[in-house]
Amino acid sequence: MEQTLAALVSKAHSELSLLKSRVEFEAAKARFVGPNGELTALMKQMGAVPKEQRPAMGRLINEAKAKLQTELEGALARIAEAEIAAQLGPAIDPTLPSPDRGPGTYHPLTLVREEMCRILRKVGFAVADGPEVETEYTCFDALNTPADHPARDAQDTFYLPKETRFGNVSKHTPHERYLLRTHTSSVQIRTMLKGPPPIRIVSPGRVYRRDATDATHSANFHQLECLYVDRNVTVKDLKALLDYIFASLLGKDTKTRFRPHYFGYTEPSFEVDLSARHLPKVNKEWIEIGGCGMVDPIVFDGVGYDSKVWTGYAFGMGLERLAMLLFGIDDIRYFYQNDLRFLRQFA
Ligand code: DAH
Repeated sequence: MEQTLAALVSKAHSELSLLKSRVEFEAAKARFVGPNGELTALMKQMGAVPKEQRPAMGRLINEAKAKLQTELEGALARIAEAEIAAQLGPAIDPTLPSPDRGPGTYHPLTLVREEMCRILRKVGFAVADGPEVETEYTCFDALNTPADHPARDAQDTFYLPKETRFGNVSKHTPHERYLLRTHTSSVQIRTMLKGPPPIRIVSPGRVYRRDATDATHSANFHQLECLYVDRNVTVKDLKALLDYIFASLLGKDTKTRFRPHYFGYTEPSFEVDLSARHLPKVNKEWIEIGGCGMVDPIVFDGVGYDSKVWTGYAFGMGLERLAMLLFGIDDIRYFYQNDLRFLRQFA
């Protein structure tokens, strides 16, 4: 019996070492220790063994069972390891330089943002930044957009729960709520509250609206805002600057057109269209690109600027819309899908 058990363990040892898969393993396990397996068959012979030899025999069988168990565990661990190794593929040396295509490229929105900032820096604008979580005061009230204005409707805006706190964004009044900014115009207020005029800033950044996504809408998109405050600023200055920046970005044939509009923070206010026939994939004569106007004296008074002395203009536009015009992109969703086939076209 002792030899039979030893032979069984050694057979298990050599057979189990050849196993390649879990299926083979399960079959082998059944063959050795399963209810119809070889060990069980030997155990069944116990009945025929004389009583006095049974304890010794029982011990031998238990030892053999323990050895078989160890062999089985070893075999399963080897199979699991081989499975992981197969998933990982050949070993790599992480200290070697990356074999991929080298450094990445700029995202088309980054390209347009940087180009616009470069164009505006040339004429004296400094880049300003503001938080994406805003207060109702900075996003609306200070921009002469009172509580009953549609832009503040909870339906179009992502408000944060009342109890939310942000250590780095202070509230102007204790009961106002936080929200994800709906436009970069809030940076106008933050900049003016920081110091006296003259001011010339450009502020690109992410904004949020409760919009359903389609080819031209996204709940999260980007804007570029400009604010100019000085003495004797006129609509002519505003128009001249817009002409200059769009001609710089899109070519000297680009023309701009103003249409009267309403914004709470500018008076008069306009929507700006671009002549776009020379741009790729555009088949309309005029394309709406943003809003603008002369800063409303109410806004100046609110931030403590003397509205009898200071004048200014402001405008805002969507960066996605600009990038789509510049590169001939016909669906806004491409910007956010991180598809390399799209992104590599801007390398
Ligand atoms: N904030 C406006 C929007 O999101 C755009 C805008 C209009 C910005 C007029 C301005 C402005 O600075 O003066 O649609």
